[in-house]
Amino acid sequence: MRRVFPLLAASLLLLLAAASAPVAQGHNITKILAGIPEFSTFNHYLTVTHLASEINRRLTITLLAVDNSGMADLLAKHLSVLTLRNVLALHILTDYYGAKKLHQLTGGSTLASSVFQSSGHAPGTTGYINITDHRAGKVTFAAEDSGGAPPVSFVKSVKEMPYNISVLQVSTILSSPESRRSLPSTRTSPPTARPPSSSTTACRCTTPRSSSRPTTASSTPSPPTAPTRTSTTPCRPTARTSR
Ligand SMILES: *[C@@H]1O[C@H](CO)[C@@H](O)[C@H](O)[C@H]1NC(C)=O
Ligand SMILES: *[C@@H]1O[C@H](CO)[C@@H](O)[C@H](O)[C@H]1NC(C)=O
Ligand SMILES: *[C@@H]1O[C@H](CO)[C@@H](O)[C@H](O)[C@H]1NC(C)=O
Repeated sequence: MRRVFPLLAASLLLLLAAASAPVAQGHNITKILAGIPEFSTFNHYLTVTHLASEINRRLTITLLAVDNSGMADLLAKHLSVLTLRNVLALHILTDYYGAKKLHQLTGGSTLASSVFQSSGHAPGTTGYINITDHRAGKVTFAAEDSGGAPPVSFVKSVKEMPYNISVLQVSTILSSPESRRSLPSTRTSPPTARPPSSSTTACRCTTPRSSSRPTTASSTPSPPTAPTRTSTTPCRPTARTSR
């Protein structure tokens, strides 16, 4: 028994070490982008939306990053954190694309799936990104549900760790109405205070059509039909139409 104990203890320690060790931690996106000031806002929101851990967890990934001014345009729309997560998830491709591969696409274009596509929040083909290598050597990215909006352009390669993670800068945030569908959550405020734009609403709060609630509680006042933007009442998710 005396001789068995150290062995047991040793194996137990090994087990503990294995359990606490990060799973195949090949990259840390927060660390990769930390040294590049022009992507500080993008990096910050990867952490806020918890997409950073999603990126670190995956072994083969391509990140389409936008610089601080590109992020400022997105934040000016005052999206909820959940919506912001969907928008940014669309910029995480679940395959490896280095700058070289972008210029060697078979047939000149390809469809890449994104983390938004695999999130279960993207119906149909939304969440797929069309990457096109144009004749002049220009590479563009467009969401499948961009609805004819101009594609975004490849700017430069930021970081390539073949074939684990590739960070590519794109000109601006991808246009995808589906990814920007409002989701209930607390709103994020941009780092710099901007006057709220009247045209964009933070969330479309719709009352479910089938609100056949039993009207038993006569003593309690009925809830307001249209929650005000300043109220703490969380917005209800918009009803999804099944296809
Ligand atoms: C890619 O990830 C693997 C496993 O995590 C790691 O062993 C390898 O060093 C990584 N490659 C690069 C270039 O970082
Ligand atoms: C990634 O790097 C950041 C900044 O260096 C650090 O705070 C964080 O703990 C790291 N995450 C992991 C999972 O190692
Ligand atoms: C990507 O978009 C271009 C331009 O709209 C189109 O010609 C091409 O067929 C698309 N590629 C794929 C793989 O869907």
